[in-house]
Amino acid sequence: MKTNNPYLLPASVKPLHYDLELAPDLDKKTFSGTVDIQLQVLEPTAAITLHARTLTISSAVVNEEKITKQTQDKEKETTTFHLAKPLQKGSTRLSLAFQGKLGEDLRGFYQSTYALPDGTKKRLATTQFEPTDARKCFPCFDEPAQKSTFSITLNIPKNLIGISNMPVERETVRGDRKRVTFQKTPVMSTYLLAFLIGEFESISKKTKAGTTVSIWTTPGKKQLGSFALDVGIRCLDFYNDYFGIPYPLPKLDMIAIPDFESGAMENWGAVTYRETALLIDDENSPAANKQNTAYIIAHELAHQWFGNLVTMRWWNDLWLNEGFATWMGWKATDNLFPDWDIWTQFYVNEIDNALSSDSLENSHPIEVDVLNPGEINEVFDDVSYAKGACIIRMLEQYLGAQLFRRGLKNYFTKLMYGNSTTADLWDALGKAANKPVHAMMQSWTQQTGYPVITIKRTKEGYELKQERFFLHGKKADTTLWHIPLAVSDGSTTTVEYFNQRTMTLKTTKDLRFNVELAGFYRINYESDLFAHVNAKAKQKTIPLMERIGLEADTYALVRARYISIETYLDLLEAFKGERDYTLWGDITGNLRQLYSQFHGAHFLPQLQKFSRILYGPLAQHVGWDERPNEKQTEIFLRQVVLVMMGVSGDEATMKEAQRRFAERQRLHPNLRSTVYSLAASQGNKATWNDLVSLYKTASLQEEKMRALAALCWFKQPELIKKTLDFLLSTEVRSQDAFIGLGRSAANPYARDATWAFVKKHWGELVDRYGSGGHAMVRIIEAVASPFNTRGKYKEIETFFKKHSVSNARRAIQQALESMRINIAFKKEQEDKLATWLASRR
Ligand code: BES
Ligand code: ZN
Repeated sequence: MKTNNPYLLPASVKPLHYDLELAPDLDKKTFSGTVDIQLQVLEPTAAITLHARTLTISSAVVNEEKITKQTQDKEKETTTFHLAKPLQKGSTRLSLAFQGKLGEDLRGFYQSTYALPDGTKKRLATTQFEPTDARKCFPCFDEPAQKSTFSITLNIPKNLIGISNMPVERETVRGDRKRVTFQKTPVMSTYLLAFLIGEFESISKKTKAGTTVSIWTTPGKKQLGSFALDVGIRCLDFYNDYFGIPYPLPKLDMIAIPDFESGAMENWGAVTYRETALLIDDENSPAANKQNTAYIIAHELAHQWFGNLVTMRWWNDLWLNEGFATWMGWKATDNLFPDWDIWTQFYVNEIDNALSSDSLENSHPIEVDVLNPGEINEVFDDVSYAKGACIIRMLEQYLGAQLFRRGLKNYFTKLMYGNSTTADLWDALGKAANKPVHAMMQSWTQQTGYPVITIKRTKEGYELKQERFFLHGKKADTTLWHIPLAVSDGSTTTVEYFNQRTMTLKTTKDLRFNVELAGFYRINYESDLFAHVNAKAKQKTIPLMERIGLEADTYALVRARYISIETYLDLLEAFKGERDYTLWGDITGNLRQLYSQFHGAHFLPQLQKFSRILYGPLAQHVGWDERPNEKQTEIFLRQVVLVMMGVSGDEATMKEAQRRFAERQRLHPNLRSTVYSLAASQGNKATWNDLVSLYKTASLQEEKMRALAALCWFKQPELIKKTLDFLLSTEVRSQDAFIGLGRSAANPYARDATWAFVKKHWGELVDRYGSGGHAMVRIIEAVASPFNTRGKYKEIETFFKKHSVSNARRAIQQALESMRINIAFKKEQEDKLATWLASRR
């Protein structure tokens, strides 16, 4: 981290304890508050600077002395109090009174709206502080290393419930208001605080260790929390055991919020969720939602240790929070639901995202300098989350699960209630395992990208060469990685330490590389060896994970123009007998990219025919209706296959989808998304109206989202236009509108219209989503990246030169790079694809 970050607060004072009282007015959409901060003066100073944004500070007192001079720095988001005479070393008290607005921007202290079961419209207030919005709620030292204790009081209407990080200590009623005071928190960072006020209801249960876990919802929905409650309890039990350090707070609340920007937020002891990420309806929720909810809970609860108990010193190490919670979240989900095939699915859920994002030249190292809120918001991306999780998994394989866990325990024991850096983690793990963890891992966290390993079979054995993999094609580059290369000879797996440009393995044996796909790299087999591995894949004499790796790497090599598209298509023919969801999920993603990139091409009907040949046998195999006790992944496979049969224009599938849509009241939850979307893809105005009325009448938020997603599948320009208008209408919550825009952009028939729409409504979108958060980033990625013409490229480049977004600088660069890759890909592969397809007629 740069030590000279001008955005850091001066080090002359630090907070020890806050007494904070907040009094929201839900009708006026405002709040007022007072805060008393006990400070330690480390160096004599006549100025106290702390963070505050969009707040009015109406009075300031230091040690009984009223401060009259207050200055603001808009850029740094700080307020400075200038004292008449300097403070000396020792302790000091700063008392402030302030006022603010309860916004609708889903950040800071904000309002959310909901309807009671009888239809009455209501409002609640909640918070989202990570990374830098605590300062929008109260003046504070809003940096992760400025840990402190907090005593919180909420002054609220008598009939409402107040929730914060800690349990209620006392309540005193006066007139129609009450003051709810919470127990003092442990030492913690400001971004993890949470305050909620509303009419909540809850269900609760205790863990083995006696922690009370509760699920909170708006009135009438608490029964939808029982799945989450069960997962929460079991997950906390699992972590208590795995970490060997018990969850330190007396309670854990998990609250479903009707308006929420991200998926969930790990506030210590008061975790907040989007409704669709927490609530499960036993009769109406599909398996996919259950898996998603289980994972999100596991991810947020992992943060109670990674992030909350031990916190990164600065946001340059955000991955310590997010990469770990991602890896740990899957680990816990696998432990709780062992028959879900979690580690196979890890490929489509994380590895694939990580390898894709990180193959752009405009990617960034995991440890990355970030100075201001715009840059901080930018690093909540696939590199911090997915690549972070992948390299942790790689390291666990290298060290062995037991030593790895022992190292983690040492890390937590040493650093709890404090802050850490990436180096602290390597030290703890290296010591426990007595291996050079630091040297190896540094090459993965401080360098951008990852290697492709070219492997050639020779008379003596194998020759290997590593070079950085760029999706835009080969380019000279000197980066080297310390690769723990897992190699199997069929009976034993060894890990070779590959840290030079080339390596030779002397052997007469037939080796397999990247065992279990735990390594973060791609493999490029030289052609004879490729044919050999290909044949083994066809006979299934290599494990499923490695067949998935072969498929995915081959496609990536085609995209990067290492090899030509026929090779990939031939390989797909070898996969005809495969039945695994993850493998087909990945293939489907790749084929849909071909549909998107060659939208409108004359050979599209042949591509459809090819897909029907590929997916037809699978469709026969899975059928439409679920068999009793089917595996979860079989359910997912059915969804992928039916959608793909639809995209391939299979008439029987389309007809059946239409028939089932007409009888949608009886549709199995696991088929709803599929049927709605397929109905829309062949639908007309009446279908559009049906879906909108489904959206409006559904009481379950996830059902609304299924309808909304389907509305983005229409092909007719006038219906596409109606969907876009609907997305920005008052019917659709802001938290969902940006997701809809992304869906619409992913529909090849709608992408031009979506881009035009975003351009036209740019001002409105910026007003809505501000320039922090991640909604704008998601919109930009989704609408710009699919294009593959020079004209659109120029247009988009010009647009973003004029319209910058503070935290989307990298996203714009990446979208432009993706378009350049698309243009080159199309040029290189279009004719080859056409010829190959024609030869299959
Ligand atoms: N800490 C994040 C929430 C967050 C995201 C805060 C972005 C600020 C900006 C939380 O732990 C998280 O990672 N949420 C994910 C869901 C998760 C299960 C992948 C999200 O909201 O996307
Ligand atoms: Zn997280």
